[in-house]
Amino acid sequence: GFSWKLVDHPKLPKEKIVAMIVLDGWGEAIPNQYNCIHVADTPTMDSLKQGAPEKWRLIRAHGTAVGLPTEDDMGNSEVGHNALGAGRIYAQGAKLVDLALASGKIYEGEGFKYIKECFDKGTLHLIGLLSDGGVHSRLDQLLLLLKGSSDSGAKRIRVHILTDGRDVLDGTSVGFAETLENELAKLHEKGVDAQIASGGGRMYVTMDRYENDWEVVKRGWDAQVLGEAPHKFRSAVEAIKKLREDPKVNDQYLPPFVIVNESGQPVGPIVDGDAVVTFNFRADRMVMIAKALEYEDFDKFDRVRFPKIRYAGMLQYDGELKLPSHYLVSPPEIERTSGEYLVHNGVHTFACSETVKFGHVTFFWNGNRSGYFNPNMEEYVEIPSDSGITFNVQPKMKAIEIAEKARDAILSCKFHQVRVNLPNSDMVGHTGDIEATIVACKAADDAVKIILDAIEQVGGIYVVTADHGNAEDMVKRDKSGKPLLDKNGNIQILTSHTLQPVPIAIGGPGLAPGVRFRNDVPDGGLANVAATVMNFHGFEAPSDYEPTLIEVIDN
Ligand code: 3PG
Ligand code: CO
Repeated sequence: GFSWKLVDHPKLPKEKIVAMIVLDGWGEAIPNQYNCIHVADTPTMDSLKQGAPEKWRLIRAHGTAVGLPTEDDMGNSEVGHNALGAGRIYAQGAKLVDLALASGKIYEGEGFKYIKECFDKGTLHLIGLLSDGGVHSRLDQLLLLLKGSSDSGAKRIRVHILTDGRDVLDGTSVGFAETLENELAKLHEKGVDAQIASGGGRMYVTMDRYENDWEVVKRGWDAQVLGEAPHKFRSAVEAIKKLREDPKVNDQYLPPFVIVNESGQPVGPIVDGDAVVTFNFRADRMVMIAKALEYEDFDKFDRVRFPKIRYAGMLQYDGELKLPSHYLVSPPEIERTSGEYLVHNGVHTFACSETVKFGHVTFFWNGNRSGYFNPNMEEYVEIPSDSGITFNVQPKMKAIEIAEKARDAILSCKFHQVRVNLPNSDMVGHTGDIEATIVACKAADDAVKIILDAIEQVGGIYVVTADHGNAEDMVKRDKSGKPLLDKNGNIQILTSHTLQPVPIAIGGPGLAPGVRFRNDVPDGGLANVAATVMNFHGFEAPSDYEPTLIEVIDN
């Protein structure tokens, strides 16, 4: 039968202290002025790269290597940390939703049947991120769902949009809203009363994560449910155009707005008897709104009204909390993650990041599951992020604090695995501020140094890698790789992740002589890291894990 017991590694010892460092948004790309990692002063990461060639390599972090639909899909933190922690490649939310829509199975599932009960008398509300970024949601999926819902009898539909500019170029929201409005107009011709009801920028409205700032969710609630917002417009396209102008605001940070009718009344508050779907497939930024929509007992902000609705997520977002309880597509069944195995095999684990990435090294790492496997063997430490700012203002973020916590955990010798996420290159890269991103990359490098020094002191092992690219390329390029200019001749800033591979470096005094990267996994990706780390803890990985990246040569 099944056993959690791992087989001992034939050559590598147990009880070593292993630092597992994930640099968020740190890819490898050609050096030039838009490569902030290259421009920044990063002596620690440089020395790893220039060190022993058998201890540094690149691995894949995007596309099918992390379970995304195509090789044109950039990597992201959810799929990246899932792969790092689970050691296998799962078809991810984006792909599972594609399949369910293509086969029509989405309309036969429990979740859709549940919300469909409201189609006769109530309104169907769709809330989510409006872009083709493919990280949290996709516009084409929303359009298919709209059509399928109206074919299934939805007569009144309201869409509550969150503008992007973070996984896609800033300024593209206008076009996405136009596309959506055209599709809604087509539904209108078919007799469906369908329109956009509210909106706001994703970083300011609704899509907070890891309980960093409930005000963000409240702003969304007020607009979506109560129909109240500081700005009122007759159309979403007009709203976005106006709100981007004076003062200049990026798509990500647009203030909340509601769409009103000719008499100034909001066109789509959520009321008793309505159905609600949050159409994002990615979990982290939907958990908070899902709690607000689903939990009877809720004290994070004053909801004013708690309408009796039927609510379903595109996916179930938290497998431990079973949240939400109704969903249209089953999430990937990520089980037997490396974290769970290691706990069963006596490996004590410490994990730490600051709030905005805390769930990456816990929740995502453990297969979208909140909480501990065994609180006696694990300690997860969250350092509060600065809230209410855009991170280009504080590009050093909490990198040093995270590193110091990791250092203390290493020096305490109470843990065998000390795992961190250093957020800087990603969070600041997403703001599109090149100068600040350069500062961010240096801060992350300083933090790596602190952790490697501690590993040196205790005779441990380090693994330094990243979850996907971001800061290594800050400009949108054409197919040939030339920077794209806008109509005023300015470069187009790339706020999103990239398709680049990421580095992985191994080392430390505890690394047995003869350990080196193998040559026979040239296509290795993030999913190969889990088996590698299990080896460093003295175990063979389970046979269905992606193969380890290392071999041990007898000297
Ligand atoms: C976000 O949610 O901030 C971006 O869409 C993706 O960034 P992440 O995958 O690095 O979290
Ligand atoms: Co990111």
